[in-house]
Amino acid sequence: MLTKSFFLLPILFWATASGTSPVSASTLSRRTKPAHSHLTKCLTAGGVTFRVFTDQDWSEYATTFNARLEYIPAAIALPTAPEQVSSAVLCAAKNGFPVQPKSGGHSYASYSTGGVNGILMIDLENLNTISVDNATGIAQVGGGVRLGNLALGIWDEGHRALAHGTCPAVGTGGHFTHGGYGYSSRTFGLALDQIVALDVVIANGSYIHTNNESYPEIYYALRGAADSFGIVTTFHLQTSPAPPTVINFSWSFPDALSTPSVATDIFLAIQSVSLNSSVINRNIGYGVTISNNATSYTLHGTYFGTIQDFNSTISPAFLNAIPYPPGSDSTIEETDWITSLTLLGGAPTLEIPLHGYKERDNFYAKSVTTAQPFTRSALEAFFTFAYTKGKGQQAPVGWFSIINLYGGPDSQIGKIGGDSEEISAYAGFDDLWVVQNYGSVSLNETFPEAGIQFLDGLNDAMTNNMMGEYAAYLNYIDPEYTREEAFELYYGEPLFSRLKELKKELDPKNLFRNPQSIPV
Ligand SMILES: Cc1cc2nc3c(=O)[nH]c(=O)nc-3n(C[C@H](O)[C@H](O)[C@H](O)COP(=O)(O)OP(=O)(O)OC[C@H]3O[C@@H](n4cnc5c(N)ncnc54)[C@H](O)[C@@H]3O)c2cc1C
Ligand SMILES: *[C@@H]1O[C@H](CO)[C@@H](O)[C@H](O)[C@H]1NC(C)=O
Ligand SMILES: *[C@@H]1O[C@H](CO)[C@@H](O)[C@H](O)[C@H]1NC(C)=O
Ligand SMILES: *[C@@H]1O[C@H](CO)[C@@H](O)[C@H](O)[C@H]1NC(C)=O
Ligand SMILES: *[C@@H]1O[C@H](CO)[C@@H](O)[C@H](O)[C@H]1NC(C)=O
Ligand SMILES: *[C@@H]1O[C@H](CO)[C@@H](O)[C@H](O)[C@H]1NC(C)=O
Ligand SMILES: *[C@@H]1O[C@H](CO)[C@@H](O)[C@H](O)[C@H]1NC(C)=O
Ligand SMILES: *[C@@H]1O[C@H](CO)[C@@H](O)[C@H](O)[C@H]1NC(C)=O
Ligand SMILES: *[C@@H]1O[C@H](CO)[C@@H](O)[C@H](O)[C@H]1NC(C)=O
Repeated sequence: MLTKSFFLLPILFWATASGTSPVSASTLSRRTKPAHSHLTKCLTAGGVTFRVFTDQDWSEYATTFNARLEYIPAAIALPTAPEQVSSAVLCAAKNGFPVQPKSGGHSYASYSTGGVNGILMIDLENLNTISVDNATGIAQVGGGVRLGNLALGIWDEGHRALAHGTCPAVGTGGHFTHGGYGYSSRTFGLALDQIVALDVVIANGSYIHTNNESYPEIYYALRGAADSFGIVTTFHLQTSPAPPTVINFSWSFPDALSTPSVATDIFLAIQSVSLNSSVINRNIGYGVTISNNATSYTLHGTYFGTIQDFNSTISPAFLNAIPYPPGSDSTIEETDWITSLTLLGGAPTLEIPLHGYKERDNFYAKSVTTAQPFTRSALEAFFTFAYTKGKGQQAPVGWFSIINLYGGPDSQIGKIGGDSEEISAYAGFDDLWVVQNYGSVSLNETFPEAGIQFLDGLNDAMTNNMMGEYAAYLNYIDPEYTREEAFELYYGEPLFSRLKELKKELDPKNLFRNPQSIPV
């Protein structure tokens, strides 16, 4: 990892070009200034605009969202059409540079900036169009579109909706190809479930249209492992009519903050309601958030229906099951779809500038996924660790955990378009709960090793006490895992072996790579 200052870039680039990563060491050590100038000459010849570190606006393109993990690409291509993406890919292949596309740049491991120094980053910010076919409801969305602009664009064309994450600046490119969860995912599926076709540039430079009948193997691999297989230039996404009303609910449970055992009792009560098919259907989505260093414990989410239904069925089912009363800051509000997304986004608008987005965070996060209900012992170990090591000011870094319900009765995750596990390279369709443990410090601090240890400990407290199997969520990619751990946690067998075969066939020179990508 390098200093946050980009003033040192020219020196750092050449000084570190021999690389420390196991993936790219051999390529990088052969790389010299001539290779770099061959790359830029090739881009120029192909009519592709690009930036290098001596450009005065370089940092506008190279700055990572995660300030903890900064890398310096060899060059950043700025294609304006798929043909230019193809030219850029061929230039990188010819000159031995690894490639990663950037959509929203929100990779937890900064993989769109390479995860190592010296890649060709292909920034998709100019591929930003959105249109909806009124007859089919299928949206065509550029690979660089951010979620907030996507939600607004399809809302403006006939009040259409897609399920996706809450942060409006996250990109379609990374999010839709590696899962993608929002409270409406139990209704519409993961972001990935809504893909019906993908236009993509693959390693040999071909620009192809893929779906379940045209290049089905490539279509399969892209949905779960796009970072290893190609660059999606256009997403074809099945939209749904936006629900007419959205109930936004939030219950706090102040008693949960007293002891790990009360926190566990409350979670177990929530879990029992979550498994009860006479209460839970696809119209509800929610999670439990333990935030502000375990000084806040809330159950919050959305329900597509009327407030009368919510108050007469959902609300009593939870409040009767949970043996402690909700706090006075709890809220239940009726709103519309786009207002609900705006509230969840936490900013006054969903609109994100097409260029020049500047927000960052300095963070480390981990995840746990499980297809089985949590046991009391896993929850109690988790809350005990959280309350003894992480409460209030004694925490080494500011942190929160969110435990979202993915599965449960009538969840549509993995149910759209047949048996999704057979038809896409995503391993998490059976998840019941997905936990995220996230810690951050301010941008001007160095993220401390004690913070990494704390978050690892929080994760381990849970996983060491689970009876069944657990895994991890691809969109919360964790760069602390070795390649082998990553393959096991993100894909497992037989999926990983199948992806390795496909990689050999489609990208034999391992062009599309990062420190945890599928190897050849
Ligand atoms: C503030 C914040 C909030 C979040 N909220 C949620 C949430 O609510 N739900 C959820 O599920 N996740 C959430 N995430 C995680 C998010 O889904 C992932 O970080 C996601 O992969 C980011 O996508 P991106 O396009 O912004 O990232 P990028 O960094 O641009 O890309 C991520 C990876 O995908 C590859 N990639 C990008 N575009 C393409 C493309 N067009 N074709 C092929 N490969 C591509 C990149 O090379 C890189 O390897 C959140 C992340 C942050 C930082
Ligand atoms: C689709 O319908 C919406 C309104 O329902 C309209 O605004 C839009 O122009 C239509 N788009 C096309 C391409 O016909
Ligand atoms: C690139 O690969 C695709 C998929 O395997 C194949 O159909 C196409 O012919 C290849 N193109 C070239 C130029 O080799
Ligand atoms: C492809 O998907 C369409 C619907 O999206 C479906 O009608 C068709 O049967 C599928 N084909 C295959 C080969 O699975
Ligand atoms: C509900 O609305 C409040 C503001 O009124 C907002 O802070 C919260 O994020 C919203 N929650 C959901 C789940 O929509
Ligand atoms: C629903 O319940 C909330 C919270 O108990 C209450 O504030 C609201 O007035 C109720 N709305 C209706 C229509 O019953
Ligand atoms: C399921 O919920 C209903 C309605 O709240 C309740 O009557 C029933 O006892 C619950 N079943 C279980 C197994 O908890
Ligand atoms: C959380 O911990 C961080 C790091 O110790 C501290 O700066 C912050 O004030 C804490 N927040 C709360 C709400 O206690
Ligand atoms: C770091 O930034 C925070 C705001 O994010 C500020 O409060 C603090 O004073 C800064 N610290 C230093 C050492 O500059």
